[in-house]
Amino acid sequence: MTIRQLILIGFMGTGKTTIGSAIAERTGWDQVDIDHQIAEAVGKEIREIFAEEGEDAFRALESQVLEHVLASPVSQIVTTGGGVVTRPCNVEIMKQRGLTVALTAEPETIIDRLRADTSRPLLAGDMERNVRRLMEERAGLYDFAPVRLSTDGKSVEEIVDELWAHPV
Ligand code: S3P
Repeated sequence: MTIRQLILIGFMGTGKTTIGSAIAERTGWDQVDIDHQIAEAVGKEIREIFAEEGEDAFRALESQVLEHVLASPVSQIVTTGGGVVTRPCNVEIMKQRGLTVALTAEPETIIDRLRADTSRPLLAGDMERNVRRLMEERAGLYDFAPVRLSTDGKSVEEIVDELWAHPV
């Protein structure tokens, strides 16, 4: 099979966007970020969409944009938001349209990485507690990905090398 779409999934703070850029650089493929596409389409930041329209409206947009992006015939790296796996229709389309790679990290690593972050509405308030709660709620949802890569304690280069060496 020729891989046309490499889709990165994983909880917030697992490094999807950063690793996606590094893979895009190595392959020469475009990187398409679903959150970025949503923000552009609506003309608002993700946190504004959550605040003004609510999570359900955001999830509906996320599914629409995902479907549209994955319909592209062009080879691309698709980076997703951490909650994309909460809708079974999204999981189905990702399974059909490309190779999905799940990035993982321990809760402590994620908490460390997101300590200064204010852009993620679902982590507002007690960030540490919200990370642990959401990780528990989403346990298993990322496991459909045929490739899983831990990002704890690794450089971006090491993670991309590991992906390259991975048998698909
Ligand atoms: C979300 C993750 C975010 C963004 C939105 C919701 C989630 O993306 O889509 O804030 O539900 O996990 P990142 O995973 O890139 O932070």
